Amino acid sequence: MSKVVIMDHPLIKHKLTMLRDKNTGSKEFRELVTEISTLMAYEVTRDLPLQDIEIETPITKMMSPVISGKKVGLVPILRAGLGMVDGMLSLIPAAKVGHIGLYRDPETLQAVEYYCKLPQDVAERDLILLDPMLATGVSAISAIQFLRKSGAKSIRLVCLIAAPEGVKAVQESAPDVDIYLASLDEKLNDHAYIVPGLGDAGDRLFGTK
Ligand code: URA
Repeated sequence: MSKVVIMDHPLIKHKLTMLRDKNTGSKEFRELVTEISTLMAYEVTRDLPLQDIEIETPITKMMSPVISGKKVGLVPILRAGLGMVDGMLSLIPAAKVGHIGLYRDPETLQAVEYYCKLPQDVAERDLILLDPMLATGVSAISAIQFLRKSGAKSIRLVCLIAAPEGVKAVQESAPDVDIYLASLDEKLNDHAYIVPGLGDAGDRLFGTK
């Protein structure tokens, strides 16, 4: 079974409170999503492999660790996942960015794919799938299945807020995909919104509605 990591650092908790507040406008919302994503990037990359290289300090030669050849790919699920890219890239600037476009059919609540462009060497990359809200899990599961069909071997999922229903669905469908969250909320409502959540992440990021 995959692991679920809930990042309850005080800075993340504080910023998440501001993000949830319905009076937070799009500009501040975007900034907060970027800041939280940067903080989450720190934890998501904790197990990246290191290799020692020789360098010379002003005092002496030494062997010192750098991130080894392992390559990272960021894959935001359009459109709300886009909000998390810049924050992640600020800590992992060499990552390539792929995109998966999915929307949720309001009638069936099923994910419909409308766009996909991934790095060519997707099979060799540690992929970090980005979506601020893990609600029913339908989008994340579809994206994971698509990434696998494209050859992906290593996938982790990073969301700001999840509902228990979504976490369970992803764990059942993709038991090897670790899930990183800033908060595990209470439940889904009848419209598949997370409670208490933050509303529609895409609308709040981009000022639509
Ligand atoms: N997508 C959102 O943007 N918000 C939710 O609460 C659920 C899905």
